[in-house]
Amino acid sequence: MRIDIISAVPQLLESPLSESIIKRAREKGVVEVVLHDLREYGLGSYHQIDDEPFGGGAGMVLKPEPLFALFRKLTSEREYDERIFMTPDGELFSQPIANELSLKNNIIILCGHYKGVDERVRERWITREISIGDYVLTGGELPACVLVDAIVRLIPGALHDAESALMDSFQNGLLEGPVYTRPAEFEGMKVPDILLSGDHKKIDIYRHEEALRRTNERRPDLL
Ligand code: ADE
Repeated sequence: MRIDIISAVPQLLESPLSESIIKRAREKGVVEVVLHDLREYGLGSYHQIDDEPFGGGAGMVLKPEPLFALFRKLTSEREYDERIFMTPDGELFSQPIANELSLKNNIIILCGHYKGVDERVRERWITREISIGDYVLTGGELPACVLVDAIVRLIPGALHDAESALMDSFQNGLLEGPVYTRPAEFEGMKVPDILLSGDHKKIDIYRHEEALRRTNERRPDLL
């Protein structure tokens, strides 16, 4: 899978996408992540990428020309399955959307910044608009990192244990129950006996019951 990310502040994306599991996935060739600095497509000697909104108002708007040029270049090089704009007025991101996107070959993610992006960019180039929650961040870079992280860990080969992504909270519509590791007893707190029993049928039943209990307690809306 190839993910192209367009941003006016690509430095914000670098570290979160260059460490840990995403780093390993990139090194293994499970995913190719390409960052594009919108400023390189800016206009004139100042590489202008934004301007005041027509009709007045606070904040700056990303201009269409640099974005049209970059979208044209990328889409002439390869086909993209989705061209996504990160925006608080998009559809709410969820595990099913991450699952769906993890099956794509090539996607573009556009990070908004400042007040927003000229509407004509959305009309002409964007196929999908996604929000990571009902709050407003300073730009789409952190949301893009959330999206990429949630997608990449689902691609076969990204995680060591193929099962663990499937066992996540939300994958079966339930939150995950408690997990423990050694020591079996710590500061007077014991790991439930059943997890030490070696009886995998019983352990599966226990885990399912705990998942149901936790979901009922914390997110009854999911049941
Ligand atoms: N840009 C600013 N806030 C955002 C949000 N909540 N989701 C996606 N993109 C955003």
